[in-house]
Amino acid sequence: MGSLTDKLSPSITNMIRMDHTHVLTTFHQYEMDSSPQTKQALVNTACLALEIHAELEEEIFYPAMRDVGADTPVLDKSVPEHNEMRQLIAKLRSMEPTDSEYDQTFMELMRVVIHHVADEETTLLPAAERLLADRLGELGAQMTKRRLQLVAPHAGEIAVNTVRGFPTTSMLVAAGAVLAGTYFARRTFGRHA
Ligand SMILES: [Fe+2]
Ligand SMILES: [Fe+2]
Repeated sequence: MGSLTDKLSPSITNMIRMDHTHVLTTFHQYEMDSSPQTKQALVNTACLALEIHAELEEEIFYPAMRDVGADTPVLDKSVPEHNEMRQLIAKLRSMEPTDSEYDQTFMELMRVVIHHVADEETTLLPAAERLLADRLGELGAQMTKRRLQLVAPHAGEIAVNTVRGFPTTSMLVAAGAVLAGTYFARRTFGRHA
């Protein structure tokens, strides 16, 4: 039986969609003639968001799908695709934004991400909404709680990259997903978060 917290929580599937939107919004701010500092801030924002998102899916979402017997090729290739992203993230972090291959490497990462996100949003998330219909809020609350733990050590870095990477208006949009999650978690879990 779901608790009140579980019922009030955004569903896990909508939280996953919000994360995807946040990463794509970050990507859309990246321009070839942006300053190296702006490029690096946007890449840092996208990479950290992707790492935390992949971890949350692997710890909470994919196991819940496997538990209810979801058996799709998309689920099978999801972790290998996350690992492909992790390799590209490591490569980007070893580079300077002025390196000749920096833009191309970020585009390669985003091509993998867009393909992966398309598969999740057209296959896995609708399947989750059928198979896990009565657990979506409970799993969303679990994800929010775990997200706070994963984000906490990076709070300062996230703020700096957001300010450097985004002009004021889009910063509000970009920060929206993260802040909404944090606000919800504080309100819900209070001192225990
Ligand atoms: Fe994923
Ligand atoms: Fe995802």
